[in-house]
Amino acid sequence: MSRQVIFNILRYNPQLPNVTPHLQRYLLEAADGMTLFIALNEIREHQDATLQFDFVCRAGICGSCAMLINGRPRLACRTLVADLPDENTLAPLPFFELIGDLSVNTGKWMRGMSERLSVWLHAQEMEVDTRRIEERMDAETAEAVYELDRCVECGCCVAACGTARMRPDFVGAVGLGKIARFRADPRDMREDADFYELIGDDTGVFGCMSLLACHDVCPKTLPLQTQIAFLRRKMAAQTIKSAGKKTSLR
Ligand code: SF4
Ligand code: F3S
Ligand code: FES
Repeated sequence: MSRQVIFNILRYNPQLPNVTPHLQRYLLEAADGMTLFIALNEIREHQDATLQFDFVCRAGICGSCAMLINGRPRLACRTLVADLPDENTLAPLPFFELIGDLSVNTGKWMRGMSERLSVWLHAQEMEVDTRRIEERMDAETAEAVYELDRCVECGCCVAACGTARMRPDFVGAVGLGKIARFRADPRDMREDADFYELIGDDTGVFGCMSLLACHDVCPKTLPLQTQIAFLRRKMAAQTIKSAGKKTSLR
């Protein structure tokens, strides 16, 4: 059974600054099982070839189809039109550079954040002893690393975060989650102090105001709340420890 659904889509192309941002209304005959991603393709194919939005995998893996669906950051390819009301508003994710309409450049921000936080495995020994790569990891640790590795860099957590809106240099829950991922990995040779240097200030773990919207909107249901709280406790303990050392040296 199909039903008629309205999509009010925020249209704006930064390349055409003379055209002011506006909501454009599209009416669609939505078929059973149709995802929002398919609906947008239908609109682009049959109603408006100029509509911009992103997708790659259509399976919740690439993270590129994130947008504001009725005000909430979500993945279009994992959203069933059947679960949406008869009239909907779609807008691009805030915070990220707008490419046009529903398309934003999350990749540019994610690359900058990844470089700034060095979110890759730091394991010099592996270059000399490749057998370490094959070393078994205990199941609990592997599970913890795998859990955080499921991040698809969609940007939903950053788009929903009030702190990120106030300070653009905040690394977001995605950045903190990545640090937690490498900290949990026994193959990473970095010490706690190295991680502390990367996120132990207001652009990192101490900037987070525990608003928890990140945790609510993450489409991969990553344990962001637990990980941020854990990092904060560890970092606070490290600060107290370092301060104690300085005092005893006096
Ligand atoms: Fe997306 Fe979740 Fe990764 Fe944030 S932590 S970028 S919401 S998958
Ligand atoms: Fe933002 Fe999540 Fe912290 S929403 S303020 S990163 S708990
Ligand atoms: Fe890849 Fe939606 S198209 S996550």
